[in-house]
Amino acid sequence: MNITAETQAIGLLGHPVAHSLSPQMQNAAIAAYGLPYVYLAFDVQPHLLAQGVMGLRGLGFRGANVTVPFKVEIAEFLDGLSEEASLCGAVNTIVNENGRLIGYNTDGEGFLKALESVFDWQPRGQHVLLLGAGGAARAIGAALLQAGVEELFIYNRTPERAIGLASLLGRMGHWRTRAVERPGEAIPYVQLLVNATSVGMDPKTDAIPLNPELLENHLLVADLVYQPQQTRLLREAQRHGCRTMGGLHLLLHQGALSFERWMHRPAPLEEMKRALHTAISNG
Ligand SMILES: NC(=O)c1ccc[n+]([C@@H]2O[C@H](COP(=O)([O-])OP(=O)(O)OC[C@H]3O[C@@H](n4cnc5c(N)ncnc54)[C@H](OP(=O)(O)O)[C@@H]3O)[C@@H](O)[C@H]2O)c1
Repeated sequence: MNITAETQAIGLLGHPVAHSLSPQMQNAAIAAYGLPYVYLAFDVQPHLLAQGVMGLRGLGFRGANVTVPFKVEIAEFLDGLSEEASLCGAVNTIVNENGRLIGYNTDGEGFLKALESVFDWQPRGQHVLLLGAGGAARAIGAALLQAGVEELFIYNRTPERAIGLASLLGRMGHWRTRAVERPGEAIPYVQLLVNATSVGMDPKTDAIPLNPELLENHLLVADLVYQPQQTRLLREAQRHGCRTMGGLHLLLHQGALSFERWMHRPAPLEEMKRALHTAISNG
């Protein structure tokens, strides 16, 4: 990487960020085109978020990614939101558009692209069970419904949040959404099961978000967790004959869409994928 006085920065704002693989993935994409940018991760103390955003603005950053825990509250410091960021109430990408910082969310569209590339699966007319009711569940639920999913079932540890998300998404698009008290209520009717909780994430890798005996071989099973790549949910699903997709596919596709928003050119997916695998194998 050749850093000169012309090099412009792109940041990742989160807390913590040390585990992130986005710097390796985005710098590989930048290098593939030889672009005059550098991508750096910033661990922002939560009480200094406003100053962090002012820094992006004042220093003329091209943009940023936003991760936990700032995806929702960052919106109040930006100059505008894209339609999908307003719909899901969360921002994971900021683009500096002639001095105006605009918030986007690429998680939903990235997830749809990942489903298509791994399963060759189209959401229209399908039924889906979503586990979780946090920020990722909201982005992915909204994207699935917008893409034509016929009915979305939502299960969450805290049932009130599942009810809240089902009613919010249902109102937004007059879509069919239903909170369920047990995942088993929905499984016979769905083609796709999505884990959008953090259950199974390193270090609690033995955890699983539902009773594995509920898994049936007609299901496609997608896990958003990518550390580890093979979660217990995915292993159990494979044991039951299901096709599976790990969270690395979403990480890749949401990152590719962020790159395209900043650079206005196609993301070099192969280089980004290779960088992710190298970063993981280097620990
Ligand atoms: N692959 C990717 O690129 C990508 C992108 C975005 C997110 N993710 C992953 O998706 C997961 C969710 O992210 P998020 O931003 O939505 O987080 P979040 O807003 O904090 O939501 C966390 C969700 O997990 C549930 N949960 C947490 N601990 C649980 C437990 N012990 N038992 C049952 N449920 C539990 C929460 O349920 P309660 O409401 O009951 O607390 C909530 O539904 C994380 O693992 C994140 O790394 C991956």
